[in-house]
Amino acid sequence: TTTTTAPEAGTGVFSRTRARITTRTLRTDRWWLPPLITVIGLAAFVIYATIRSFVRTAYWVPDYHYLTPFYSPCLSTSCVEGASHFGTPFGDLPVFLPLGFLVLPFLLGFRLTCYYYRKAYYRSVWFSPPACAVAEPHAKYTGETRLPLIIQNAHRYFFYVAVLISLINTYDAVIAYHGKTGGFGLGLGSLIITGNVILLWAYTLSCHSCRHIAGGRLKHFSAHPVRYWFWTQVSKLNTRHMQLAWTTLGTLVLTDFYVMLVASGTISDLRIID
Ligand code: FES
Repeated sequence: TTTTTAPEAGTGVFSRTRARITTRTLRTDRWWLPPLITVIGLAAFVIYATIRSFVRTAYWVPDYHYLTPFYSPCLSTSCVEGASHFGTPFGDLPVFLPLGFLVLPFLLGFRLTCYYYRKAYYRSVWFSPPACAVAEPHAKYTGETRLPLIIQNAHRYFFYVAVLISLINTYDAVIAYHGKTGGFGLGLGSLIITGNVILLWAYTLSCHSCRHIAGGRLKHFSAHPVRYWFWTQVSKLNTRHMQLAWTTLGTLVLTDFYVMLVASGTISDLRIID
């Protein structure tokens, strides 16, 4: 255990009204394990997603119309032919800008301000606090009342954008049923992309802000049966929000990785209907 010297008058765990315990925690279990696993998981995703977003290779399979979610929508003339489903309103992009530059900040903002991810990185990265009954190293606690953490309150707006992005991803999934010679086709890639989109919807709709939008600020549920029904459904999904947050990180990587393998010619897509 680490010892900390409590300053005379402070805030948080050093405030006058708190018990004067000089050790950082009295816990003897491996309380540091969950934050450690969390930070490894988050870091692995961030490193993978950053590299893939910048490389500009193997993100589109022209034969089967598979587009990785990291490059969707691809709106610049730097995108390979066929990958721009919504036109190319932007010209060539400099190499330091990812081709998905328009949505990536919103996706990042959506996840960074997510209620679940806040819990995850406040504990594992920010140590505020690292675990129950383990004192944080910070001398001051200002919560989410000032910059930069006050931005957390914008989560609802990131949610609106996330819904739009999910619609775009749904379009990408529909067109991923494309045969090599045109018409309908079905491959393992189509199924992976579809599975990812379904889970992304589940994650997005299980959002706490979504739950509040559906059924919040109502005095009487009985007077709003439709909103009550939506709220009930979202509430059921909401209990799985943490699992969906992690599952979708995994399916995003899996989808991108599969598209990369097929697009680069490393493997060929398993075709069920060509
Ligand atoms: Fe997690 Fe909104 S609370 S996405």
